[in-house]
Amino acid sequence: MRILVSGGAGYIGSHTTLQLIAAGHDAVIVDDFSRSKHSVVPRLEALAGRPIEVHEVDTTVRPATDGLLADGAFEAVVHFAGLKAVGESVEQPLAYYANNLGSTLSLLEAMRRHDVRTIVFSSSATVYGENAPVPMKEDFPTSATNPYGWTKVMQEQIFRDAAVADPSLRVALLRYFNPVGAHASGTIGEDPSGIPNNLMPLIAQVAVGRRDKVLIYGDDYPTPDGTGRRDYLHVEDLAAGHVAALAHLATTDTSVSTWNLGTGRPTSVREMVDAFSRACGHAVPFEVAPRRPGDIAESYADPSRAESELGWRAERTVDEMCADTWRWQSQNPDGYPED
Ligand code: UD1
Repeated sequence: MRILVSGGAGYIGSHTTLQLIAAGHDAVIVDDFSRSKHSVVPRLEALAGRPIEVHEVDTTVRPATDGLLADGAFEAVVHFAGLKAVGESVEQPLAYYANNLGSTLSLLEAMRRHDVRTIVFSSSATVYGENAPVPMKEDFPTSATNPYGWTKVMQEQIFRDAAVADPSLRVALLRYFNPVGAHASGTIGEDPSGIPNNLMPLIAQVAVGRRDKVLIYGDDYPTPDGTGRRDYLHVEDLAAGHVAALAHLATTDTSVSTWNLGTGRPTSVREMVDAFSRACGHAVPFEVAPRRPGDIAESYADPSRAESELGWRAERTVDEMCADTWRWQSQNPDGYPED
């Protein structure tokens, strides 16, 4: 299939683009490069062993997105593009709603006009809100605690409503748990702008000496060691989930399918710091700090629906996630070269 990958220069988008190409698809990247660097592209081309078509376009701009779909002869869209920093979304809610909802609306509109029926969407386990029991299942109610989370809840609803109006749509809502790790080559990986909000890139930057220590946000949670537990999954497993979802959409009669992508196994913050220390060969310094507002004690998937319907399962271990993150971070201590 010829597939448009929005946000294809980003962390998850870049790994997925490579796997789509490896699976025989023609993946075309559209990215506004506001949170990604152009220097990822030659690295992707080196790994893919062929040139990759890239369009520098802001998908919230409707005529531009329409033009892409008009000319592209695409059969599917994989939609990653979006803003994802929780704290920033609290400070700039309108920017988050405008960007995240805007790109989804203009992509869906352009798909309708140019007869593209298939889309895979990057949703998040954040849609389970703050009171969900674990493990989390796809039929749980959705809610959110911050504007970023609400944009994911709302985008899911937009897809469901669009599919009621046009049942020929084939939509996959992929609810990611906590993606970490990097391509085994160490040449592509996660390169957040500014101080990382998420645990794994922060640990990696401390380990490589860019920051002093990891602050562990709370050790008084009702978990075995008191620190928060999450369902970390390797970005390569996550990318494989997208390839499997696209294959499934080609055969299903269901308009909207929702799948958790996680391992089903929780890891605590302390366990992750210890695992990373083993991977990098020295103790990663940390200090216990107060809880981060809005954090929940535990989040992990029931991944059984994806396993039974997609034949997909996250295979890689926490030690592999740490080893691959460390390879990327130690080879690229400052992330991608500046544009
Ligand atoms: C966070 C977001 C979530 C979003 C996801 C992906 C919050 C409250 N949730 O999920 O909405 O979908 O990122 O972008 O921001 N931790 C530390 N020290 C740190 C950073 C994190 O101890 O410096 C702990 C957290 O308390 C948590 C765990 O590490 O227990 C994972 O945190 P993080 O990587 O930010 O992911 P989530 O909070 O699960």
